[in-house]
Amino acid sequence: MKNRIKDLVQEIESIVAKNNDELEAMRIKYLSKKGLVSELFNDFRNVANEEKREVGQLLNELKNKAQDKINEIKESFESLQTDDNKTDLTRSADPLKVGTRHPLSLTKNEIIDIFSRIGFTIAEGPEIEDDWHVFGALNFPPEHPARDMQDTFFIEQNPDVLLRTHTSSVQSRIMAYQKPPIRMLFPGRVFRNEAISYRAHCFFHQVEGLYIDKNVSFADLKQALMYFAKEMFGEHTEIRLRPSYFPFTEPSAEMDISCNICGGKGCPFCKHTGWVEILGCGMVDPNVLENCGIDSTVYSGYAFGMGVERITNLKYQVKDLRLFSENDVRFLEQFKSAY
Ligand code: PHE
Repeated sequence: MKNRIKDLVQEIESIVAKNNDELEAMRIKYLSKKGLVSELFNDFRNVANEEKREVGQLLNELKNKAQDKINEIKESFESLQTDDNKTDLTRSADPLKVGTRHPLSLTKNEIIDIFSRIGFTIAEGPEIEDDWHVFGALNFPPEHPARDMQDTFFIEQNPDVLLRTHTSSVQSRIMAYQKPPIRMLFPGRVFRNEAISYRAHCFFHQVEGLYIDKNVSFADLKQALMYFAKEMFGEHTEIRLRPSYFPFTEPSAEMDISCNICGGKGCPFCKHTGWVEILGCGMVDPNVLENCGIDSTVYSGYAFGMGVERITNLKYQVKDLRLFSENDVRFLEQFKSAY
């Protein structure tokens, strides 16, 4: 018995197999129920009692050896699999779960894309600002209600450090160090001390536009805004400019577009007027140009500022502003787009 085990150990050590079929034949030969190793196990009954311990041990070693050898050959086949034409190299990889852009980013990127086609470049300014850049340089009189504690977040009781309430603050920064012509967009987040509800939030986003050069007129402003409205909301969109007031523009206007939800017929979104307001605009007030060191007798310009949330609501009909800042993936996953 011991000799038979020894012979088999040697035999197993020299097993070779060229492919899986040959290997399977070897496994059957040695390890299946009727295989050579199993046969020895059957004969174990006949081993004398005093030898049982030693022979049992040898038998177990033999069985393990056979198993190891076969596994070893199998693994060597697996590591060679790339050479084996059974591997399907055309199979697509496991699909990665791709994230989606935030709807406000989609809108912002689209606005930037539209204006960049007519030569606007981009700049950003700080969210934590001083009184001069947010109000002073922009021609806000000292007692103007927009500086009131109710609208503006001030920092550490210092009325000169505040969170910007509009991106117009970037206008005053850019104009102070850049010579005209200036044709730029300023996207960014702004803050106002408002109670949070479905239609108001303490922070939101704006995109500001500024164009300063010689001979810039209100007609240029209107043309740029009409181009924007049609690109953003479709060829049939109409615009309407209503006179308004901002300290930093003169004349000032607010722009409405024909409601793109009802096509101008009247619906709850446009309060049955057929029009929705999307931005404020106007010709840059000469005082602002002078405050920023630009000669107002040589240069003129226009500015506009729009709310990104507002435009996103119009485009995607999001009814509750709070959804934008809750990070609920079920909401965010609905926005798949190229931008
Ligand atoms: N800053 C204004 C606002 O926040 C919008 C605006 C920008 C108006 C530029 C005119 C010109 O309401």
